[in-house]
Amino acid sequence: MRKKVTIVGSGNVGATTAHWIAAKELADVVLLDVIEGVPQGKGLDLSEAMPIEKRDVSIVGTNDYADTAGSDVVVITAGIARKPGMSRDDLLNTNYKIMSDVVSKVVAASPKTILIVVSNPLDAMAQTAYKQAGLPRERVIGMAGVLDSARFRTFIAQELKVSVENVTAFVLGGHGDTMVPLARYSTVAGIPITELIAADRLEELVQRTRDGGAEIVKYLKTGSAYYAPSAAATEMVEAILKDKKKILPCAAYLEGEYGIHGLFVGVPCKLGAGGIEQIIEIKLTAEEQAALQKSADSVKELCAVIGVA
Ligand code: 2OP
Repeated sequence: MRKKVTIVGSGNVGATTAHWIAAKELADVVLLDVIEGVPQGKGLDLSEAMPIEKRDVSIVGTNDYADTAGSDVVVITAGIARKPGMSRDDLLNTNYKIMSDVVSKVVAASPKTILIVVSNPLDAMAQTAYKQAGLPRERVIGMAGVLDSARFRTFIAQELKVSVENVTAFVLGGHGDTMVPLARYSTVAGIPITELIAADRLEELVQRTRDGGAEIVKYLKTGSAYYAPSAAATEMVEAILKDKKKILPCAAYLEGEYGIHGLFVGVPCKLGAGGIEQIIEIKLTAEEQAALQKSADSVKELCAVIGVA
């Protein structure tokens, strides 16, 4: 039997996630939204592309959670997106209500599922989903690090004029202005980028990574990024469905790792059929650890506002 993935929210991020999943023939897809007609229309349109793409997956658009029953993975993209001048944190209260409602319905229909949270502000929304879901922490994962690392990798590859495939990078911490791109653990064909890019230029690339979401919002004016965010969520879905044991930076609920307790923060995780199968604790310098702690503190502040700290 084919795997089943539900995507909640049929906006740009949700619909494009459906597109990547179908194009890679990873699973049947249920695209759910509260808006009537949009998920049905996008689902049908995408289905009609499958004969051309030679992919046997079903894509169903719906407004009814009953159709999501038995999902292996649920990707939650629902919520309002940023407009120019807004920070991810400005979305907090509205998206908290949406997330709480969505998670209770999703988990009732698919109690064995693994949740991937994409809505912003990411870490606080993952925390909301975790508290609402009552699932083990292995099965509630936030998508941010894969996206932030992909942005950093893009800028490094452009800077050095090398294949993006040669570039690995790690961005830890919260998905916000305090995220922690780890230059020391970022390499080009195994060579640390600190040996290839001068420190001041590297700092510019790090800052562009931190501002990566806002850079896109500024161009689009009416919404935020969706190609890279949806590709990032799809990489996580694939790692889980194919039990790849792939190490990816994800927002995970920490219970003492990195000295952080009871909070979602981006750290390296091993993703497989069980969800987060391992949280990997890498050695940080005192400066990196302080930056991670600062990032965690800002996540905690947001969580406190909505009562999920
Ligand atoms: C981004 O970084 C919207 O948070 C999303 O593009």
